[in-house]
Amino acid sequence: MAALEARAVPHAWRAGQYRDSLQAGHLCLVVTQNGVLAGQALAMMALDEAEILNLAITPELQGQGLGFALLAAILTQLRALGAHRVFLEVRESNQPARRLYQRTGFVETGLRKHYYPAAQGREHAILMEMSL
Ligand SMILES: CC(C)(COP(=O)(O)OP(=O)(O)OC[C@H]1O[C@@H](n2cnc3c(N)ncnc32)[C@H](O)[C@@H]1OP(=O)(O)O)[C@@H](O)C(=O)NCCC(=O)NCCS
Repeated sequence: MAALEARAVPHAWRAGQYRDSLQAGHLCLVVTQNGVLAGQALAMMALDEAEILNLAITPELQGQGLGFALLAAILTQLRALGAHRVFLEVRESNQPARRLYQRTGFVETGLRKHYYPAAQGREHAILMEMSL
């Protein structure tokens, strides 16, 4: 998963962060194509709220609906587990992801300034949420 994300974004989670997330019991869904990992989504629950921690589709398969399907699937699972609201953070410059989240029903609720490391300096995070 770390190798896939490293090919998809400049500041990807390292393998240890994936390991920690899985060991912490976070929800993880993957999509495969011909037995090969094509994408992943991770989320955590806290009482009746959830947070999308990570979503990535391998670059060659982006733009074909896999990200939308994976996001929809993890939201369905979170709802089944009792989540009523779900939150996430996304880089301000990440227009494809922001568009996907908006299409799925997320609304932008805030801004965390200078939150992410970026190629030059730092970048704001857009906070988004959705009722399930
Ligand atoms: C963001 C990311 C996960 C999106 O995955 P994807 O598979 O490329 O996205 P999709 O093909 O599912 O969606 C692409 C478009 O089709 C739309 N779409 C796809 N399936 C759809 C469906 N069944 N119904 C309605 N809309 C759909 C999406 O809303 C989106 O709209 P757009 O054309 O206006 O951009 C992917 O680009 C990625 O891995 N990026 C790098 C990692 C990253 O930035 N992750 C997010 C961090 S917060």
